[in-house]
Amino acid sequence: MITAFLIGLGVMCAVVLILTLVILACDATIANYGPVRIVINGEREITVQGGRPLLASLKDHEIFLPSACGGRGSCGMCKVRVLEGAGDPLATELPWLNAQERKDKIRLSCQVKVKRPLRIEVPRELLQVRQYRTQVIGMRDLTYDIKEVTLQLAPGERIDFQAGQFIQFEVPPYALADEPVYRAYSISSSPAQHDRVELEIRLVPNGICTTYVHRYLKVGDGVTVNGPYGDFHLQENDREMICVAGGSGMAPIKSILARLAETGSKRRIRYFFGARTERDLFLVDEMRALERTLTDFRFIPALSAPQDGAAWQGETGLVTAVLERHVTSVENAEAYLCGSPGMINATVAVLKKKGMPVERIYFDSFG
Ligand SMILES: Cc1cc2nc3c(=O)[nH]c(=O)nc-3n(C[C@H](O)[C@H](O)[C@H](O)COP(=O)(O)OP(=O)(O)OC[C@H]3O[C@@H](n4cnc5c(N)ncnc54)[C@H](O)[C@@H]3O)c2cc1C
Ligand code: FES
Repeated sequence: MITAFLIGLGVMCAVVLILTLVILACDATIANYGPVRIVINGEREITVQGGRPLLASLKDHEIFLPSACGGRGSCGMCKVRVLEGAGDPLATELPWLNAQERKDKIRLSCQVKVKRPLRIEVPRELLQVRQYRTQVIGMRDLTYDIKEVTLQLAPGERIDFQAGQFIQFEVPPYALADEPVYRAYSISSSPAQHDRVELEIRLVPNGICTTYVHRYLKVGDGVTVNGPYGDFHLQENDREMICVAGGSGMAPIKSILARLAETGSKRRIRYFFGARTERDLFLVDEMRALERTLTDFRFIPALSAPQDGAAWQGETGLVTAVLERHVTSVENAEAYLCGSPGMINATVAVLKKKGMPVERIYFDSFG
């Protein structure tokens, strides 16, 4: 009896699976949606070839939405409001959309396939995002696994961004990628430099973009980027600043510090930088130089596993524990956090325990 039931269930599942695959294959090969109209913000109209994701279709018309996962539905960054024509959100979108966003018809543009005319809303600032063709003019090792890459814009080109924002780097097809792939990288240089951007890129084993940068990219190569993007940026006020970063999370904080130094800021700034060992530390001399330039800035590196305990004179332990020891009052402070999701969650918990309101905690998670 049970055996017959299990066989029946198995057959049913197999039939459903085969039908789903057939429908997907037909959709990908036979279905021809022809040209489809998209109306943007009620004022601009574009016509795209139907059947492709909304994210890619917009990009073809030089309308760039942020995307850190290259359209795989795993970063949740490509949100856009679709007022008409997209049907219900897919299961792949639901984890990224809260109740209010679903009510507001927010969608992941990489998961919305353009099949019918659409009416969408794109935030004004994203319509300013541009694509830049750049050339690599510098590459240097900051650590054994982090490279600084300097990209020069074409003559006459100019990029305007706020300290802390990021760009998207286009990886051309190569051994690990069949088609162009995009990844997000924070700009580490000062926003006062309009003709070039510096990036700090940490190698992720087998990662598509970071392998390309670390193993293949060289001075003189061309690189296409688009941007700038992001809500994580310096807030222009007089509050005390608590910055916390780890690894390549250094990048946007470095840009923020450069901006503060250039504008002669007198803000009290404490920068906690977490690393595992001495060889994971970098830009220490630059940070010490900033301590001399800025009126009230201290750089506090913390090693969680110093190799030579006797030689290391600085803080030891997790950066969150060091933060907990150093910070006594958060009354007039705001925080800038950058690094892995784990580090950010732990730091937010410490700051909240100290009494910092969440709306004064700004962060960029590199996960
Ligand atoms: C707003 C933003 C800004 C960012 N800025 C920077 C920056 O300044 N410098 C920088 O180095 N990175 C930064 N990142 C991360 C970057 O966008 C890529 O995710 C990362 O470089 C990996 O890309 P990849 O193509 O090499 O790896 P992928 O091919 O995407 O991933 C390969 C595998 O590694 C895993 N993986 C992906 N990222 C990581 C990671 N960081 N650590 C461990 N495993 C990972 C994936 O889950 C996958 O299994 C930022 C991310 C965001 C969202
Ligand atoms: S691009 Fe990452 S979820 Fe859409």
